[in-house]
Amino acid sequence: MEFQNTLGFAQELDKKDVLAKYRKEFVYPKVNGQEVIYFTGNSLGLQPKRAKAFVDEIMTDWAELGVEGHFYAEKPWWDYHERLIPPLAKVVGARPEEVTVMNTLSVNLHFLMVSFYTPTKNRFKILCEEKAFPSDQYMLQSQVRFHGFDAEDAIVEVKKREGEHFWRTEDILAKIDEVGDQLALVLIGGVNYYNGQVMDMEAITKAGKKVGANVGWDLAHAVGNVELKLHDWNADFAAWCSYKYMNSGPGNASGIFVHERHLDQKDIPRFEGWWGTKKEERFLMKPHFEPMPNADAWQVSNPPVLSMAPYLASLELFEEVGMPALIEKQKTLTGYLEFVLKQIDAEVDSSFEIITPKDRGCQLSVFLHGQGRALFDYLMQNGVIVDWREPNVIRLAPAPFYCSYEDMHQFGQILKEGILKNTR
Ligand SMILES: Cc1ncc(COP(=O)(O)O)c(C=O)c1O
Repeated sequence: MEFQNTLGFAQELDKKDVLAKYRKEFVYPKVNGQEVIYFTGNSLGLQPKRAKAFVDEIMTDWAELGVEGHFYAEKPWWDYHERLIPPLAKVVGARPEEVTVMNTLSVNLHFLMVSFYTPTKNRFKILCEEKAFPSDQYMLQSQVRFHGFDAEDAIVEVKKREGEHFWRTEDILAKIDEVGDQLALVLIGGVNYYNGQVMDMEAITKAGKKVGANVGWDLAHAVGNVELKLHDWNADFAAWCSYKYMNSGPGNASGIFVHERHLDQKDIPRFEGWWGTKKEERFLMKPHFEPMPNADAWQVSNPPVLSMAPYLASLELFEEVGMPALIEKQKTLTGYLEFVLKQIDAEVDSSFEIITPKDRGCQLSVFLHGQGRALFDYLMQNGVIVDWREPNVIRLAPAPFYCSYEDMHQFGQILKEGILKNTR
């Protein structure tokens, strides 16, 4: 499609957008009395309007039923999380039995490593991307130390090439091959938080499995953003948070995927709790653990229902719209944003550089050569919510559920004013 950086053109695209009607399903923060242009769905998604009613329902049931709500609430609490699983399984390309919702992301990756990072004297290395999200770095370092290894020796980071801002798949595959039978685990962010790159999850999983390693994915920036086929790709496990593109609320519950070949096994190493035991027998208070035959075997505690409620509300929207429609809009919307950025860059003879490669989801990370925090502050004060990453990068993630083409055009105009005011 030939884009134009005009208000009329952007509005025409909005008129043709089948998802445009979903804008009214979300609540927009305001700056200077105006609804903002929201680019931080990669950090915290906007609140779906219907979330409040889902939370209120639990509050009412709690008030009226007390403990009886566990079994007699409108949506009983004891298995509330199960309602989230079918729509979530579709979002991540999994079978429902391979998915559950529990805890938070870093906690779940640790729990999953209990099962899938079981190093031996010879096979003990973990491969990840250089400068992985800090929590992932801390997790991997503490996991290898916990098993008595030295992080310097046990963690293999795949580097970007000199002067490049992205990882080359061939470099990742070559490193997997090189580490070979010393490789216990591959654990990488499916979409990189900093540059927005979508990793070739299928090829990397295949390569990891070929050398006999387990392969897991941190999908914080991938879930609800890009196409995932966890089952078909044959990943061993994955985990994600729900507060970014899944719009479930700050710090909210994580989801996990465990491939079906690992389900219904008693001898798999695992940290266990009463919510992972067979649900028919859970309240018999038996002394021995009988695992659920599905990913629920990894559930430890009873589900935090008040957190699950807004997540369920949001999943209802995902179920209505479906990932294919979201991804289709995401491609055009992010493409339009890229076009607008390049136009503005040329018009004001600026020099920003989009460091996100072509394999991307919503996010564009823009390196602001010669400009910096003053421009970021200008955007924020003028109703454009973006985020800042050191040393000089703003991340823009137009989520297709609630961002419009007009937003992209308007943003371009505010950006241009900001550059002219702040740097000239
Ligand atoms: C890629 C990635 N991994 C892990 C985390 C940590 O998530 P949590 O604080 O929910 O454990 C985040 C949080 O933003 C993230 O972006």
